[in-house]
Amino acid sequence: MNKPAHHLFVCGSFRANGERQGVCHKKDSMSLLSYLQGEIQDRMLEGIEVAVTGCMNVCVKGPVMVDYPAGNYYRVPNTDALDAILDAIEGDTVAEEFLLT
Ligand code: FES
Repeated sequence: MNKPAHHLFVCGSFRANGERQGVCHKKDSMSLLSYLQGEIQDRMLEGIEVAVTGCMNVCVKGPVMVDYPAGNYYRVPNTDALDAILDAIEGDTVAEEFLLT
């Protein structure tokens, strides 16, 4: 198994019963997910996987995304944030302005 260098988990607001409740879904995190997948393809980035998660319990900061295994929690209010995060990943840095603290 090839482990990705960056596994990006985008919150889909799923709860244990399968329902979507929470800020990330209401703020259209699924559109952000689609943009992220397209941008990764357009940039021909390798070693990056994308997945959807349940609520990560930081709803008030949402939409949120985690870069694993680095463990960087990001707020992703829009596609500009995703661009900045992907730029940082390409440059082997961190998008400090979008980090959750
Ligand atoms: S709904 Fe995304 S962190 Fe809770």
